[in-house]
This record gives sequence, structure tokens and C-alpha cells, in this order.
Amino acid sequence: MIHAAVIGTGSCLPKRVLSNRDLEKIVETSDEWITSRTGIQTRRIASSDEKTHQLAVESAKRALDMAGVQADELDLIVVATVSPEMIMPSCACLVQNELGASNAFAYDINAACSGFLYGLDLVDKYIGARPDMKVLLIGAERLSARVNWSDRNTCILFGDGAGACVLTGKDDGRGIIDSNLFSDGSLWSLLYMNGPQNLGPELKHAEKQDCYIRMMGRDVFKYAVRAMEEAVVDLMLRHDKSVDDLKLVIPHQANIRILNKLMGRLGLPEDKVFINVSKYGNTSAASIPIALDEANRSGRLAPDDLLLFCSFGGGFTWGSMLMHW
Ligand code: UT7
Repeated sequence: MIHAAVIGTGSCLPKRVLSNRDLEKIVETSDEWITSRTGIQTRRIASSDEKTHQLAVESAKRALDMAGVQADELDLIVVATVSPEMIMPSCACLVQNELGASNAFAYDINAACSGFLYGLDLVDKYIGARPDMKVLLIGAERLSARVNWSDRNTCILFGDGAGACVLTGKDDGRGIIDSNLFSDGSLWSLLYMNGPQNLGPELKHAEKQDCYIRMMGRDVFKYAVRAMEEAVVDLMLRHDKSVDDLKLVIPHQANIRILNKLMGRLGLPEDKVFINVSKYGNTSAASIPIALDEANRSGRLAPDDLLLFCSFGGGFTWGSMLMHW
């Protein structure tokens, strides 16, 4: 049986570090509040020459280098993002151009914080049909450009960055095992961001200005814990796996309290969960691939390890995935 397996990972974080103390000078907040409510201590903020696609390209170069794959060998490039600089062309086409990946077709997907997980599922389907395909999947965000820097409810949470994977078909038991993905569009208004393209004549001037992230944090928190728990439990039962079988869990990094609740409900020991939310905050679609790259480069993964991914984000979109490393 052929599965899509990761053969290289990479990530790229902007240079500028914004600490909670720095945020105290921007909005009425405190290091104590942010740390205790979110677990976030710093986040990275992109400069004008660290655009979404530039972060994506740097992460891609590192993943290609690890995979030993040349850009012109790529067949497909998918970028998961909700914060591209341009609506058209896609971020993926800009990445294709800068990499010189002239043989690949390229497009973006939007599933908010679940974008990378949805992307892995999609790539698995392509590779299932054509196992020799070489695919570059990237999660890249520049959310600092899309938060209202006078709204303390949101601006403290998000950060910028990109993470990438190169995948191809393997028949040695490695790769994606299965996924469990969900959406509920009826809850869209709890977490959303108007597009700058939403400039129809029916909109008032104030609405045209409002392209910032809006979130009903407390509601999102409750749904996130319950939805990820259910998505994980179903998937584990389907494959007759228990927590003991897992080597590492790589969840979307939004809030340490969400992760602590999830670990409690699933009976997951802390040393089986990769957590870097304190350093980067919530980087939406980039959070899982950044964490995966850090886990990979720090030697926490060995061939055949069983990995579990889970995410929750705007849409709502959520899900889980099992993978043999
Ligand atoms: O990645 C996609 C999914 N997103 C998430 O998973 C995020 C889910 N939500 C959360 O992580 C949390 O709800 C937040 C971190 C956003 C907020 O934490 P909370 O414990 O739910 O706080 P809250 O929104 O209930 O606010 C509690 C209080 C409020 O004051 P009052 O009304 O009790 O007087 C807020 O105005 O904290 C206040 N507050 C702040 N105070 C200091 C809100 N933001 C801040 C702040 N600094 N930055």
C-alpha cells in the first residue's frame, strides 16, 4: 500500500521578536495576563521584506534541501494560508516562481488553522493516485498584517512564520495512515476575517476598513477542546490505537490552556506532546509544520514512530491525522 510520506521538513521564522513586555507598551495588557491565559511569551513579527511568500520560500528551500529534491523535480506546490499578500496570483504560484519549480502546478488552500492538516490529507490523495509525485506542502502566515494592533483580545495571540514538507509515495509502511477532518460553517462568525477583496458597493466605508481578525475567544476555546478531543478519539478507535502507541503528538499551537485541557481529557503525558506556543504564539496554518520541523531537527522523531496531529480553526475547521514517520 502506497502512502504519502514526509521526506524533508523546513521552517522559517521572521527575525523580529515581540515579547509580552513589548505588547504592554502597545495595548493595556500585562506579561502576567498573557502568560497565564495563553502560555505565549514571544511571537515573531515579519518586516516588509519578510512577506508571506518569502517566508514560505525560505521554509521550502530548507525542506527541499533535507529531502535532496531539486525545485524542478516538484510536481505540485500547495500553500495553506489565510494571509497571502495577494489574492491573485496564489502564494503557491509566487513560491513556484521564486523556487524555479517550473514543472509543478501550484495553488493555495484556506482552512485557517487546520490548513496544513487539510493539505496533508489532500496531498495523500494525489500521491495515492500517482505515487511518484513529489509535492511541496507549505503552511505560511503573516497574521501581524491582519490583526488590529489596538485590540488586546487578538493582537497578543498571533505571530508570523512558515513551515514546509516535501512528500512522496512510500510503500515501506511510512506515511499518512488516515485522517478525520470536519467543518462547521454555521459557526463562522465566532472567528473570521473580512477579505480586502470584500469591497462591494453595498459595504459602508467603516466595513471596508475592517479586514482584521475577529474572534469570540471564550466560545472558540470551548469548541476547540471538545472538537479536537472527539476528532482524536474517533481516529484512534478506528485504528485500534491507544496513547501508549503514540510517539509524539503535534497539535495546532493556539493556547497552552487548550493543550493542557486536551492532554487531560486524552490522558496524554506532557512529554508526548510537542509544544512551542510560548515562542511563536498562534501562527495558524504554519503552526503544525513549524512544530514538525522543530521536532524533526531536534532528533525527536525516528523512522516508524507513530505521530498524531490535531488542529482547530476558523470556519470552523478541525481534525486529526495519524502518520507513521
Ligand atoms: O487558532 C484558532 C483557534 N483560536 C483559539 O483557539 C483561541 C481560543 N481562545 C483563547 O485562547 C482564549 O479565549 C483567549 C486567550 C483569547 C482569551 O482568554 P480567556 O480566558 O477566554 O479570556 P476572556 O476573553 O474571557 O477575557 C477575560 C478578561 C476580560 O475582561 P473582563 O470582561 O472579565 O473584565 C477581557 O477584557 O480578560 C480581558 N482581556 C485582557 N486583559 C489583559 C482580554 N484580553 C486581554 C489582554 N490583557 N490581552
